[in-house]
Amino acid sequence: MMHAMMHASVGDDVFGEDPSINQLEEMAARLFNMEAALFCPTGTMSNQIAIRCHTHPGDEVICSNNAHVYIYEGGGIAANSGSQVRAIPGNYGRITGQQVLAAINPDDVHKARTRLVCLENTANRGGGSCYDLEEIRKIRQICNENSLQMHLDGARLFNALVAKKETASQYGEIFDSISVCLSKGLGCPIGSVLLGSKRFMTKARRVRKVFGGSMRQAGFMAAAGIYALQNNIERLSQDHLHAKLISEALMKKDFVKDIMPVETNIVIATMKEKYPAKQIAEILYQKGVHVIAIAPHELRFVTHLDISESMVEKAIQIIEAL
Ligand SMILES: Cc1ncc(COP(=O)(O)O)c(C=O)c1O
Repeated sequence: MMHAMMHASVGDDVFGEDPSINQLEEMAARLFNMEAALFCPTGTMSNQIAIRCHTHPGDEVICSNNAHVYIYEGGGIAANSGSQVRAIPGNYGRITGQQVLAAINPDDVHKARTRLVCLENTANRGGGSCYDLEEIRKIRQICNENSLQMHLDGARLFNALVAKKETASQYGEIFDSISVCLSKGLGCPIGSVLLGSKRFMTKARRVRKVFGGSMRQAGFMAAAGIYALQNNIERLSQDHLHAKLISEALMKKDFVKDIMPVETNIVIATMKEKYPAKQIAEILYQKGVHVIAIAPHELRFVTHLDISESMVEKAIQIIEAL
């Protein structure tokens, strides 16, 4: 990846003249069988651009109460789009067609206009859970019947594709827009790609500029993205195996109360009442295992391409000795 970055051809992307960014955008659009793509510095920005493009101030966005767009993007939906959120309690971060249908506001001046449904796959706060594609299709049908747009926060979509043996184009044919991160399991230093129609992307390109996310010679970063799409997708299954092994070690510990089902590269473990997650994270950190306390009693472990088999073995030994 470093070699690809150092040898990247670059130009001024604000003028559409960076060959590496153009190549990455074309490649991603082709992969998803969508018309167009836009390189963005972060997943937060690409989600926020999409939401801004799909909504008007005063609209309502339906998503899970644990969605990244809702709880981890600094109130961006309100700040950037002037829209409000209808947060639905999900099943490990996944919401259903029935829930979406029940949350759509009637055409009534008292109510916000429901405009957009945002799904997250895999669901970070759901322990890396994957959607069932059939449920997503049901939600699409409900969106069609109610003139709603659909956005996918696919920060870790490639993990879901590998785990469920699905294809990017199956998602491309359902959603109006998709954001995928290159910077997470795929291993790039920065970068996300927003996908959608040509018309949507013309608008998105303008919003990216307004948000300050249009970059100049960012082809060095796009070259990393091209490399990642070519080389780092299939290997995600190793990260999934590593996460399973870590969860099996955690399951045996008497300070662990519960672990969310492990489907991909995230392990979220709930500690028993007398064991604050921060304290356990600190002990693990001192022994060389970096995890985060995402709630007073919840720890999140994430595996990725910089965590080798031997590092996982070592982490397991450390967990076993706690
Ligand atoms: C599900 C999800 N969406 C979006 C993002 C945002 O990505 P970034 O950190 O690149 O802004 C994250 C980051 O962790 C995430 O987990």
